[in-house]
Amino acid sequence: MELDALRLDYRPIDVLIPYARNARTHSDAQIAQIAASIAEFGWTNPILIDGANGVIAGHGRLLAARKLGLTAVPVIELEHLTEHQKRAYILADNQLALKAGWDEELLAVELADLKLAGFDLGLTGFDDAEVQSLLDKLVADDSAADTDAEANGTGDATDNIPEPPVQSLTQAGDLWLINHAGLTHRLLCADAGDAVAVSRLAASGRASLCFTSPPYASQRLYTSSRTGPGANDGVGQWDAMMQSVCAALPAVLQPDAQVLINLGLVHQDSEVQPYWDGWLAWMRTNGWRRFGWYVWDQGPGLPGDWNGRLAPAFEFIFHFNRQGSEVRRPNKNVPCIYAGRDTHLRGDGTSAGGMRNKDGSKTAWNHVGTLTQDTKIADSVLRIMRHKGKIGQDIDHPAVFPVALPQFVLECFTQAGDMVFEPFCGSGTTLLAAQKTGRHCHAVEIAPSYVDVALKRFLQNHPNARITHADSGEDFKDRLAQMEATAPSHKVAA
Ligand SMILES: C[S@@+](CC[C@H](N)C(=O)[O-])C[C@H]1O[C@@H](n2cnc3c(N)ncnc32)[C@H](O)[C@@H]1O
Repeated sequence: MELDALRLDYRPIDVLIPYARNARTHSDAQIAQIAASIAEFGWTNPILIDGANGVIAGHGRLLAARKLGLTAVPVIELEHLTEHQKRAYILADNQLALKAGWDEELLAVELADLKLAGFDLGLTGFDDAEVQSLLDKLVADDSAADTDAEANGTGDATDNIPEPPVQSLTQAGDLWLINHAGLTHRLLCADAGDAVAVSRLAASGRASLCFTSPPYASQRLYTSSRTGPGANDGVGQWDAMMQSVCAALPAVLQPDAQVLINLGLVHQDSEVQPYWDGWLAWMRTNGWRRFGWYVWDQGPGLPGDWNGRLAPAFEFIFHFNRQGSEVRRPNKNVPCIYAGRDTHLRGDGTSAGGMRNKDGSKTAWNHVGTLTQDTKIADSVLRIMRHKGKIGQDIDHPAVFPVALPQFVLECFTQAGDMVFEPFCGSGTTLLAAQKTGRHCHAVEIAPSYVDVALKRFLQNHPNARITHADSGEDFKDRLAQMEATAPSHKVAA
């Protein structure tokens, strides 16, 4: 079917004639909302008119434009419509839109994300009561899952460990090469504490950043494939696992690399367990400087009975680098609201002053007379909504962080083309963030089934990616298709 191309035009607002029999109504409050939307987003939806400047659709936008004092508005002229078509379309334009629904879960996640970013949710057209009820529902869903987990004694909704796949395609020791859009990532199925196995990755370059989220203390048993040190059956075992993984880092990292490790709280016997203490001390005696300590604000807290504690809403990120190494400054990658403006300066061109010295005097401000820069260093509180829901079709993982989290860290501490290391790859979130930001990723995961999950997830996001086995050259997609054909019950899902 061939349709005429649309032509966008601008008309003086005064020549447009509203339809006298327009059955659609607009309250003053709604017109104010549309005006606010036009002021924030600019024109995104022109007014539809007939061949004689009669308005077909966009009466609300026209009133809002008048309210804003605009003298011209964008229009699309539909002069080809007959009189009856025009009258019918005036109804259809409104009524067809009403037939669409909302995925309330996704809607709530979108609103929560925008709220976290400080966006004025009034501009989305939802009123305060609607937003609150959606956010309450989102939190209530999380709470129900968490309450179940508490009842099971696992303490965290993400502890619900799905059945492992019947059979994994990946075998221990496999190294997969993931090529897509000029980037090459490597995913090795091994114990990240096995320095010999892991050093295989260094043959193709060393990473300038390690970002990862290990299992927390004795909280989760992801896989029964590891026994001995690091089998996650106690804080002592956790220490041993972390020490072995961190001892292997120099084999794959550049000497001045940054290491950022995400850990959450663990409560036992009605107390917070500082399970990281032994490991932090080990890091220090092994040349790792405790360089920074950040908070990941995960969005609205989870209501429910937390045994008398406040609702969990954050985790930590520990930042290390080698003692004596030159400090790598974070990228200034966060836009400044007052970029290019000088409103933060006093009338005489000076600022409110610098930092206070020990004796109480103030240091001079070294940007006197300059305008506010375009971008700044990110906050040490990372405001990123926690992950919710499944990560792909037929695939899941019990402890996924959102892609936005590694993306944020990668954008702070690396440049496009750099390499990052992820020793606890899980479902491959850091791989996806690396691809998204143009970095190469070297990743390790101990559980063959989760390697399958990570590769399948990567393909669901990047169907044209080429994934090959480093030794045999076999194609992952072909192997997967063969496996699913011969064993239909096999699902590469954890
Ligand atoms: C907290 S999860 C990481 C989840 C990941 N950030 C994501 O978004 O999917 C920890 C992962 O580390 C894996 N793991 C545990 N011990 C390991 C080890 N010694 N070497 C490599 N991977 C390990 C677990 O199987 C699990 O998939």
